[in-house]
Amino acid sequence: MTLDASGRSYLVTGGASLIGSHLADVLLEAGAAEVRLLDNYALGTPETVAHLKDHPRVRHLRGDVLKLPDLLQAAQGVDGVFALAGYLTLPMAADPATGLSVNTLGMVNTLEACRFAGARRIVFSSSVAVYGNAADHPMAERTGFVSEGLQPASKLYGASKLIGEGLCARYAAAHGLQYNVLRFASVYGVRQHARAVNAVFVARICDQVRRGEAPVIDGDGSEVHDYVYVTDVARACAQAMLSAAHGHACNIATGVDTTHTEVARTALRLCGRGDLQPVYREDRRAVRSAAGTRLGFTRDLAARELGWEPRVTLEQGMRALLDWQRASA
Ligand SMILES: NC(=O)c1ccc[n+]([C@@H]2O[C@H](COP(=O)([O-])OP(=O)(O)OC[C@H]3O[C@@H](n4cnc5c(N)ncnc54)[C@H](O)[C@@H]3O)[C@@H](O)[C@H]2O)c1
Repeated sequence: MTLDASGRSYLVTGGASLIGSHLADVLLEAGAAEVRLLDNYALGTPETVAHLKDHPRVRHLRGDVLKLPDLLQAAQGVDGVFALAGYLTLPMAADPATGLSVNTLGMVNTLEACRFAGARRIVFSSSVAVYGNAADHPMAERTGFVSEGLQPASKLYGASKLIGEGLCARYAAAHGLQYNVLRFASVYGVRQHARAVNAVFVARICDQVRRGEAPVIDGDGSEVHDYVYVTDVARACAQAMLSAAHGHACNIATGVDTTHTEVARTALRLCGRGDLQPVYREDRRAVRSAAGTRLGFTRDLAARELGWEPRVTLEQGMRALLDWQRASA
């Protein structure tokens, strides 16, 4: 799908986020007339979007999704809203009261702002956390939430994203607002932060190997995740806004399960450290997402409805992450 956003204005809530910073790049490249990045910098920092500081088509707005007037003002005249503001599992574990408020009441406010500002469409950043501990294989979008065995923060995070999805559907039914929900797998890449429980593993392993240390793995290394590169995710967001299709909840995943050991071996190969080996230690992680040795997220729906396919392999993505870590060290 060719992305043409010329003449359009968009609001991105949580604009100083990992995904928001790349989404802004994609929208500007697609010709958007204006991209408004609203953030209260509770978690993200201005450095994440520093490359857009003086961009003539970007507006940096300090605002809080828990304050409806901030959103009403920011959404004036936009064509669409990307709802990215949110608390991932790690910040949710640290501050569940704020995390739940942002992920649920923040969504109510964002949808109200869409309604009153006349925005046509919202794209909501959900997560494969909405499947919880489901054991379906493959994991398609009809899979239900299984809370059994989840750690508290993962339960709260997955449930809060399900509420966000429900709110989108409710505003579509009641007010005709178009929506697409994107259920991201583990998003990693350049400008990586330490808030995502799975992607932070990739960043830590790259960092260790780059510094000449052996990569340390919690457990036996067989835990798998689906690592999807952030520019692919940003493109999925733009496609979900610009596509004819709406009213869908799509997995945004590669469909490839990668073990922790494979991540470590990829980092060792990319850094030319054949002399090092992964070190396995007892798994004492205080906060974990749903984890197993088989996931198999399908991406047929995103391909069919949005025309989206991932383009960046794990090796390419980790190389970019390593280069960025070196440059920012
Ligand atoms: N990164 C992933 O692996 C991943 C996976 C699945 C889903 N998601 C979802 O995608 C979205 C973006 O992810 P990310 O990794 O880029 O997140 P991030 O943590 O980089 O960014 C979230 C942003 O929201 C902002 N924010 C928090 N509370 C706010 C408030 N009250 N008002 C305004 N802004 C506020 C933070 O300051 C931060 O900049 C999140 O909603 C997340 O739940 C991310």
